[in-house]
Amino acid sequence: MNHNALPRARITGTGSALPDKIVTNRDLEQMVETSDEWISTRTGIKERRIAVDGQYTSTFAIEAARRALDMSGTGPEELDLIILGTVTPDYPFPATACIIQKELGAHKAAAFDLSAACSGFLYGLSIASAHIRTGVTKKALVIGAEVLSRVVDWTDRNTCILFGDGAGAAVVEACEGENGILSTHIFTDGSHWDHLYLPAVGSRNPASCQRTIDERLYYLRMDGNDVFKHAVRAMEEAALTAVAANNMSPSDISVFIPHQANRRIIDATAKRLGISEEKVIVNLDAYGNTSAASIPIALDEANRSGAVEAGDIVLMDAFGGGFTYASALVRW
Ligand code: ACO
Repeated sequence: MNHNALPRARITGTGSALPDKIVTNRDLEQMVETSDEWISTRTGIKERRIAVDGQYTSTFAIEAARRALDMSGTGPEELDLIILGTVTPDYPFPATACIIQKELGAHKAAAFDLSAACSGFLYGLSIASAHIRTGVTKKALVIGAEVLSRVVDWTDRNTCILFGDGAGAAVVEACEGENGILSTHIFTDGSHWDHLYLPAVGSRNPASCQRTIDERLYYLRMDGNDVFKHAVRAMEEAALTAVAANNMSPSDISVFIPHQANRRIIDATAKRLGISEEKVIVNLDAYGNTSAASIPIALDEANRSGAVEAGDIVLMDAFGGGFTYASALVRW
């Protein structure tokens, strides 16, 4: 959606929240046949944060949301809309966003979950921005939150080394002036839906001891090589679409915030775009792949550390299960 003629939506607050528990590559060496050296060189990940008993997706989403609301000076009762991007909701239904709405006291906000895997935050930002631009919504909260550790097979070295838990959030509101979300772009290629998915529990594979438990269908499945190959190409396409829609080129980008899946995916994408290393925000060494939470966590850290400053052109770029991919270009 290109937004040139309409009022602008702007991110006025960011927040993030992570579990305290750290699982290092050395810890994983005790669990599966792997090594710190293999994980570091193939992915760039050194450690990840993992939820403990009593912590759920909503736990981190609510904490991240409160921090974003604080920064923006927005009261929860002012919110018109809450969108939670997640593939690991507290329950299949109701939407975890409804639990968040209650806990925040955001009485007038419509709230729903959005399933777009690692692109969930940017899909949510796109919807919130469109609602704001048309005047339907004044203030929205967009969250990406996951507890992937609960759907990862901790005996499968192909997948368990990659993922982490956490949440990031942004308050988005209508405002005047040149700064704000310049455009958002969302894409889907459903022909690869079964290359990264969670087989159970759903209407195709309802709960049963014989199938869902014995066949371990409740763990995510991934064709890592296929994901890798498509991620780089799709993230390049999403990024180029965003800069072209604003009559810019990649050289105009001040800060690049890619989805944090694999250091090699990030480096290859940045190289194709000609974006130099110092402009790229990377935190996957500390958190692994937190799916929908990865971009808003990185955005919040960049915002709070001063790595993103007023006037900067910020490109956010995601790829995930579906396959989904998305970009957002922001004048900060
Ligand atoms: N430790 C040691 N060896 C391992 C491990 C491990 N943790 N995992 C796999 N191996 C072995 C494999 O068994 C294989 O052995 P073999 O040659 O004897 O069969 C060998 O290492 C090479 O395996 P590949 O899969 O070819 O390794 P590759 O370099 O492709 O890296 C990886 C695998 C890291 C999964 C990579 O493909 C990747 O990052 N893909 C993207 C997947 C991703 O990021 N998914 C996240 C969700 S989607 C998203 O967010 C974008």
